[in-house]
Amino acid sequence: MLKDTGHKARAAGSPHPNELPVFGRLPLEPVRGRASELWDAAGRRFLDMYGGHAVALTGHCHPEVVAAICAQADALLFYSNAVPLVVRDRLFTLLAELAPRGLDRVFLVNSGAEANEAARSLARRTTGRARVVTVEGGFHGRSLATLAVSGIAHYRELAATSEAGRALLGMTAVCPFDDAAALSRLVDDTIAAVIVEPVQGLAGARDCSPAFLRAARRACDLAGAVLVFDEVQCGCGRTGAFTAAQAYGVLPDVLTLAKGIAGGLPMGAALIAEHVAEGIGSGDMGTTFGGGPVPCAAAVANLEVLRDEGLADRAGALERRLRDALVTLPGVIRVQGRGLLLGVVLDRPAKPVQQALFERGVLVGSAEDPRVLRLLPPLVLTEAEADEFVQVLKEVLS
Ligand SMILES: Cc1ncc(COP(=O)(O)O)c(C=O)c1O
Repeated sequence: MLKDTGHKARAAGSPHPNELPVFGRLPLEPVRGRASELWDAAGRRFLDMYGGHAVALTGHCHPEVVAAICAQADALLFYSNAVPLVVRDRLFTLLAELAPRGLDRVFLVNSGAEANEAARSLARRTTGRARVVTVEGGFHGRSLATLAVSGIAHYRELAATSEAGRALLGMTAVCPFDDAAALSRLVDDTIAAVIVEPVQGLAGARDCSPAFLRAARRACDLAGAVLVFDEVQCGCGRTGAFTAAQAYGVLPDVLTLAKGIAGGLPMGAALIAEHVAEGIGSGDMGTTFGGGPVPCAAAVANLEVLRDEGLADRAGALERRLRDALVTLPGVIRVQGRGLLLGVVLDRPAKPVQQALFERGVLVGSAEDPRVLRLLPPLVLTEAEADEFVQVLKEVLS
């Protein structure tokens, strides 16, 4: 057995000796978070424009989310889907209120990858077909079936390391980004599903054009395929509406959510159209922890905060403020994305800029595109914090 050398002996950001070293880490150990701010053990403050990877939607430790978690944990920590739960029913009702009309059936899971697995499996059952069209640059999770539909080559290569993964890859077609004509050619009557991130997160907050998403809808209608919007990163208010589907005015057949939905507890959800849900019955799908009482209580509190504080509108207003200021900075070529999922495209490599921001107490994300800084802050970011970020970035770039 490896010996624990103790956390003090490790360099900040390096893995525990017993840990599988699969994560690249920032040299920061946060001990406290509030809204858009984090503090380390030495009391150093950071502005979190990365939002714990888009999870801190209503901010770190929103008091109503924390209170709901504590109260539910005290009342009933866990019971499975073998029983109905009032708190789970409240979440179903709230999701139906917030989500696009027509996506009223909900399957609750624990992560984004699981929600996308569920979407894939529903599409297979609905159509009796197995092939999936994905979009270049899309990312859908780390399970075998979701790696195999990644639009990023090195994730597809991870799937290729097993026979089952190679079989799944044989059922994937990759459409060039935002190419509506290519998509229409690829979607024929062998296709079960088209999976697309309306705003691609990992690719660098790259937003699809409305014309591309409308073409995807049309192609799926013509071929009888299921249109899946992966809104794991761009959903839950981030693009200026509760879902990007609503922001774009295009209705998919299945829409997946995760990340920020439960304010920091693990949860994923597939929102499903009736015609896709209708063949599904007892025992066809399942999960132990999905829809458990504590994540449901957290999600209800979190989504009520999102609704009652108008945070989706706020994301739209902050987008305009950030865009207007960022495009004037030296070294910024353009700003892409929607709402508070923005990619700042630089005229230079983003990594050193990300590092320099970190040294000045600002966290931002990187992307597959090495020139892009990715912004996914909490939607409770204040105007003053948005301006602070722009000012620090300006100093770093000049
Ligand atoms: C768009 C998208 N889909 C799916 C996933 C996978 O989600 P999870 O890590 O919760 O499985 C991610 C994670 O980054 C994502 O950004």
